Amino acid sequence: MYASFTSRAALVSLACLVARVSAFWRLPCGAPLIVERSDPIVSPGRPSGHSHTIMGANSFNYTMDGDYTSRATCTTCKVKEDLSNYWFPNLYFQGADGSFTPVKQTGGALVYYLQRQDKKDPEYSKGLIAFPEGFRMLAGNPSLRSYSNTLAQRAVNYVCLGNEGPHTNSIPNKNCPGGLRSQIVFPSCWNGKDLDSPNHQSHMAYPSLMDNGYCPPTHPKRFITVFVEIIWEIDAFKDKWPTPGKHPFVFSNGDPTGYGYHGDFVNGWDVDVLQKAITTCTDSSGIIEYCKAFTLLPNSGMNTCKKLPHVQESVLDSNMKALPGCNPVQPGPGPAQPPPACGAATAIPPDPIAPYTDVIDTKKWRYLACGIDGGSLPGRTLSGASYAKSDNTVEKCIDFCQGKGFRYAGVEYKSECFCGNNLASNRLPKEGSLGACNNRCSGNSKQFCGGYGYIGIYENCSRVNGTCENQQLPQW
Ligand SMILES: *[C@@H]1O[C@H](CO)[C@@H](O)[C@H](O)[C@H]1NC(C)=O
Ligand SMILES: *[C@@H]1O[C@H](CO)[C@@H](O)[C@H](O)[C@H]1NC(C)=O
Ligand SMILES: *[C@@H]1O[C@H](CO)[C@@H](O)[C@H](O)[C@H]1NC(C)=O
Repeated sequence: MYASFTSRAALVSLACLVARVSAFWRLPCGAPLIVERSDPIVSPGRPSGHSHTIMGANSFNYTMDGDYTSRATCTTCKVKEDLSNYWFPNLYFQGADGSFTPVKQTGGALVYYLQRQDKKDPEYSKGLIAFPEGFRMLAGNPSLRSYSNTLAQRAVNYVCLGNEGPHTNSIPNKNCPGGLRSQIVFPSCWNGKDLDSPNHQSHMAYPSLMDNGYCPPTHPKRFITVFVEIIWEIDAFKDKWPTPGKHPFVFSNGDPTGYGYHGDFVNGWDVDVLQKAITTCTDSSGIIEYCKAFTLLPNSGMNTCKKLPHVQESVLDSNMKALPGCNPVQPGPGPAQPPPACGAATAIPPDPIAPYTDVIDTKKWRYLACGIDGGSLPGRTLSGASYAKSDNTVEKCIDFCQGKGFRYAGVEYKSECFCGNNLASNRLPKEGSLGACNNRCSGNSKQFCGGYGYIGIYENCSRVNGTCENQQLPQW
């Protein structure tokens, strides 16, 4: 049964054969909301032990209590009525010198909602149910470094795209030209009463065939099954493997095996909409556009929905000396030990780190916004003058543009600077979203200099009507 996930085509053809258990939809999630040491389920109110790539609504926070979805203004996933969060460890390449470089994700994630149910389910007659408000759960176990054939471990596996064999439960020792796809199935059987449990798992159980089959009597209620794929672009490192035949990748929890991969889910669905989709979206193609229960969001807004970090530390820099939280690489086979204390932050500073440099006093320019420069938009956002330099900083770019008499200066993709006098409104981020200006400047690792396709725009104060203030950020 599980082999049906080996390729999407196989899944679809399988789905066409079986009724009732066959319908599903694929929910695409764009670039992550943030990659940081955060896990409000396991480590509420403090930095988590290792970093995660986090998808979903910007109500995500170090603690998620109360009516968190009401604090959301955007989500990185496609459906407006889904303000859930989904998070996973992120992957690094470890070079010959021991340093760590992040492996890029293709987009964010693809979340499958599978309408699987079995006649032997204790509550089959009641049908599949939606996650209740405030529900959360965890799949997988970060400390695992070896495999035993349990339902929970079968729920974690890998597909080597472009060099496919059978899927594996550990990271394969070969390059994957199309990317390494990590996959995880969340449990779908619920005890019917607890929104969470002390280990965040025991209120849930896997059905008899892990992603299919029937629920145990202790966990009789059947949710829709959540299955998540993330593609890691490991092909970028194909010529850099320090030891041929031994893959150089390690997850943020110090796991080079892949057995310790895991996923967390906090429900943020409009429960009525999810229940309606479960009942009415019975197409077996997986195409989300066919589900009329949903309001679909444009990709542009998904990709600019961001959370600001509070902890100043390297997570996505190249050649880092240690993994975030200094997790040692632990190949096992015994369970991994918690990381030693190492000076990494253990508390959350109250204020978020602004995605800009305040230069109002020093330069008499203000930060305006993280604009869009690229994607489907032709030409440049600021087209007056430009440079690309390995010592780029916000101040240097402003000096350059100011010297040429421009109104706007924009920093982009670490080393680039663009100037201009005109700024089209479709270049500005959508309301509620911050934009993805999270690259550090090539000449100052404490400053942000735009992103790939995103430009951090500053404006000459004397061109501003009224008080010259940095852009008012959303609550974050
Ligand atoms: C996130 O939590 C902090 C406190 O840790 C709080 O000040 C802030 O308002 C919260 N933000 C959201 C969007 O919930
Ligand atoms: C801002 O623009 C004004 C008007 O073009 C110009 O006179 C001034 O020198 C500029 N100021 C700065 C700080 O760039
Ligand atoms: C700023 O003020 C000038 C002159 O009063 C006006 O022409 C212009 O439209 C104003 N710009 C904005 C953005 O309000």
